[in-house]
Amino acid sequence: MRGYVKIFTYGCQMNDLDTRKMYSDLARSGWCPTEDLHQADLVILNTCTVRQKAHEKALSNLGRLRRYKRCKPHLIIAVTGCVAQELGAELPARMPHVDIVLGTHQLHRLREAVARPASHSGPFIDTRYGVEIPSLETVPEPEFMDAPHRCALTIMQGCNNYCAYCIVPFVRGPEISRDWRSILSEARTYAARGVKEILLLGQNVNSYAGGLSFPELLHQLHAIEGLERIRFTTSHPKDMSAELIACFAALPKLCSHVHLPFQSGSDSVLKSMQRGYTRAHYLGLIEALRGARPDMAFSADVIVGFPGERDTDFTQTLMLLREVGFDGLYSFRYSPRPGTAAARLIDDVPLEMKAHRLSELQALQRQITLENHLAQVGRTCRVLVDGLSSRHADQVCGRTSGNTIVNFPGKVSLVGTSVEVRITRANPNSLTGKQLEGRH
Ligand code: SAH
Ligand code: SF4
Ligand code: F3S
Repeated sequence: MRGYVKIFTYGCQMNDLDTRKMYSDLARSGWCPTEDLHQADLVILNTCTVRQKAHEKALSNLGRLRRYKRCKPHLIIAVTGCVAQELGAELPARMPHVDIVLGTHQLHRLREAVARPASHSGPFIDTRYGVEIPSLETVPEPEFMDAPHRCALTIMQGCNNYCAYCIVPFVRGPEISRDWRSILSEARTYAARGVKEILLLGQNVNSYAGGLSFPELLHQLHAIEGLERIRFTTSHPKDMSAELIACFAALPKLCSHVHLPFQSGSDSVLKSMQRGYTRAHYLGLIEALRGARPDMAFSADVIVGFPGERDTDFTQTLMLLREVGFDGLYSFRYSPRPGTAAARLIDDVPLEMKAHRLSELQALQRQITLENHLAQVGRTCRVLVDGLSSRHADQVCGRTSGNTIVNFPGKVSLVGTSVEVRITRANPNSLTGKQLEGRH
C-alpha cells in the first residue's frame, strides 16, 4: 500500500465525478481512500472557482493545510480542478506547501505526479489544455460509483459560450466532446453492472458533437438493455433544438425533468449577460417541452444582482418563476470573476440589495415548490429507490422521474428497484407516499 488518500471536493457534479475517478485511479496503484484527514498521506483539494466564495473557500482550506504539513512533512498536497487551472504555477509560488497542481485536462497524470520520488525538486505542475481529455475515458471501479444502481458519466467538457459573468470557459477550456462509441461502451459497462439510471454530464450537454448529435446519442443510449432512466445536465437554451425536444415524446426512458438555467427574467439583463436568448424564447422552450411531456418538471440556475440589474429587472425574474413553476432553483448572488467580460463592469448592485433580492426570490421559490408538491398528493408515480431514508429507519427514499424526492415505508431490499408509490403528503423539500401493494 502507498498510504491513505483524502480528497476534498468543491463545486459541480462534474467535479464530484472527477473525485470518484481520482479515488479509483489511485486505488489501482495501491492508495487507500480515507475519510479522516489525520490518517491521510496524500490530500487532494478538487476545487471550484465559479463564484468568489468557492474560490476563497478552496484557498482558505489550502492555507490551513500549511500548518498541518509542518507536523507531518511527508504529507503530499495536491490541488486539482478549476482553481488549479486558474492559478497554475502561482499556487505553489504563493503556497510552497503545495506539491502538485493539475488542471482540468490533466487529471490522468495524478498517479505519475504522486509516484514521483520525494527527492525530485520543485512542484509538479501541469495545466496545459489538450485536444483530448484522457481522464474523461476513465471508468471508475464499482465501489467508487454514486450507488450500484445509479451513476454519472461525462460526455463533454468545456464551454464556448462566454456568458459575461462566467469563468468556466476559461478554466474548463473550449467544448470537447467524447466519441459517441466510447460513451456507449461506458454506458453498456454500467448497465452490465446493474446500473438503472445514468446522468449525462457536461457544461453544455446539448451542444454535444462527438460524431453524433445529442438527440442521436440519446436514441443510441435509449436502446441499451437494462438502463431504465436517462438524465442530463446542464443544458443551454440556445441548444434546446426541436430534435431534442422531440426526444421527450419519443424516448420513454428519458426522465421528465429538464435543468434549464435562465439566469435572469429580464431581456436587458440577458443581453448584457450575453446569453443569446430572450425571456420570450425561454418561455417558448418551456411550452414546447411541456407539449412533448405534459408532466415535465423544470429546474434552473439564476443570478441576482448582475451589474445594472434594476428593481424592474428583478421583478421580471420573479414573474418568470411563477410563469414556469419550477420544481427547484439554484440561485446565486452575482460575484465578479477575473478575466470575464462582466468583471470590467461596475458591480453596482449593493451587497445588501443582492442579499435582499436573493431571499425574496428563494421565499417565492419555496412557495412554488410546495404548491407543486401539493398538486402531487393523491397521484401515483414510479420511484427508483436510492437508499434508506435519513430521517426514518423504517422508510426508504427515492426519486420520481421528475427528480422529486419521495420517502415511503419500505425495506432496504427495495434499494435499486422501481416501485409504484401513491403520494400521501407534500413537504417543502420532498413527498411522502405509500407503496402500491405488489406493484413493481
Ligand atoms: N454551464 C452551466 C452552468 C455552469 S456554472 C450553464 O450554463 O448553465 C453554474 C451556475 O453558476 C451558473 O448557471 C450561474 O447561475 C452561476 N454563476 C456562474 N458565474 C457566476 C458569477 N460570476 N456569480 C454568480 N453566479 C455565477
Ligand atoms: Fe458559464 Fe455560460 Fe458556459 Fe454556462 S454557458 S458554463 S454559464 S459561460
Ligand atoms: Fe466550479 Fe469548475 Fe464546476 S468552476 S462549477 S468546478 S466547472
